[in-house]
Amino acid sequence: MTAVKIGLIGYGTVGSAVGRTIRSHQENLQIVFGKEVQVAGVLVRDKQKYEQQVKDVLLTDNVEEFFARTDLDIIIEASVGIEPAYSYLTKAISRGCHIITANKEMIASKGAELKELAKEKGVRLEYEAAVAGGVPVIGTLKQLLHINHVVRVEAILNGTSNFILSKMSDKNIPFEEALQLAQEAGFAEADPANDVDGWDAFYKLMVLSDLLFEAQPDWEKVTRKGIRTISSHDIHAAAEQGWKIKHVATLENTGGEVTASVEPVVLSAEHLLYSVDGVDNAVCIEGDLVGKLKLQGPGAGALPTASAIVEDLANLVHQRKEVRVKRTFQFTEKREAAPYVHLPSGQVVVLEKSSENYYRVVGKNERSKAEV
Ligand SMILES: NC(=O)c1ccc[n+]([C@@H]2O[C@H](COP(=O)([O-])OP(=O)(O)OC[C@H]3O[C@@H](n4cnc5c(N)ncnc54)[C@H](OP(=O)(O)O)[C@@H]3O)[C@@H](O)[C@H]2O)c1
Repeated sequence: MTAVKIGLIGYGTVGSAVGRTIRSHQENLQIVFGKEVQVAGVLVRDKQKYEQQVKDVLLTDNVEEFFARTDLDIIIEASVGIEPAYSYLTKAISRGCHIITANKEMIASKGAELKELAKEKGVRLEYEAAVAGGVPVIGTLKQLLHINHVVRVEAILNGTSNFILSKMSDKNIPFEEALQLAQEAGFAEADPANDVDGWDAFYKLMVLSDLLFEAQPDWEKVTRKGIRTISSHDIHAAAEQGWKIKHVATLENTGGEVTASVEPVVLSAEHLLYSVDGVDNAVCIEGDLVGKLKLQGPGAGALPTASAIVEDLANLVHQRKEVRVKRTFQFTEKREAAPYVHLPSGQVVVLEKSSENYYRVVGKNERSKAEV
């Protein structure tokens, strides 16, 4: 009986954890696939770095050798950036390999092309790990897309920003100090721009938009704000009212007008995201039938991300028929310039900037019924 052969692209935090998990959970994988599941090749940029870790399988930094020397069924991609990952995956799909990727920037930029090619070649493209790490948001949304109208998705998609805002609030410290704590704890990169300027959450939101609408808004027209300008004063002003400032990515369909935004939002205690603190990610999904759901958990880290990947792997054995219900909508730019506070029963309090970062309440709006 031949084994299921897997090629790993990238062997850093995520790729190496996937390699270890395939070994540690081999028994379960064999039950699912009915045969051995083995890593047959590993492609990295600099193979010398990995010679101590990767033994008994092909380790290469040459993509031609990776594809030529291995007879791969499935590619798991855990490298960084759009290229060369996109070219490698295009090549893999053309050779008939199923694809599982954790690379959010690549899938946000090139997901539509890859999905199209995968469909044409009759292979699967899975990307659960690319949004909210170990939190099964993609699978849950796929499950809900047949009959429910998903009217709103609100999510904390960047654990680093959430950690920083939580520390600013708990310890009453400024952004720079909280960032340093995040870096010391290993939650933030030396260059934190991708996280604190909202790019990481933005890519994930665009992946969700592709999933919900089979389209993305014009990236230039999406509100994308990070957390650098949040001051201790802002946090304190919100806390005085019993509110918290959270970095929230939102996709909302109001009667066919779809808006997407990534920005700091002031939340009241009734909001489902209010209690999500530390490095956790959380996704609130509102469907017309199911109501409001909240998924919360580790949005990053070696094992939670590997978990999402190996579950995608196991799901390849099920034939999944993707039935899409066509919905009519158009993307529009978000008009509210000021952040708003969520209150129970759909009310929102609109806030206004009275100085650089200090917000004061100016009125209450009744949210109109939104629908996908
Ligand atoms: N870390 C997480 O918790 C997490 C969670 C969800 C999703 N992700 C996503 O998963 C991906 C991997 O993240 P990571 O944290 O594992 O990154 P990482 O530790 O920096 O590892 C990246 C790996 O990709 C390899 N690589 C980079 N450029 C390559 C190229 N041109 N060709 C072949 N291999 C290349 C690197 O090899 P060299 O060392 O030789 O350069 C390294 O092995 C990213 O797209 C990230 O956004 C990460």
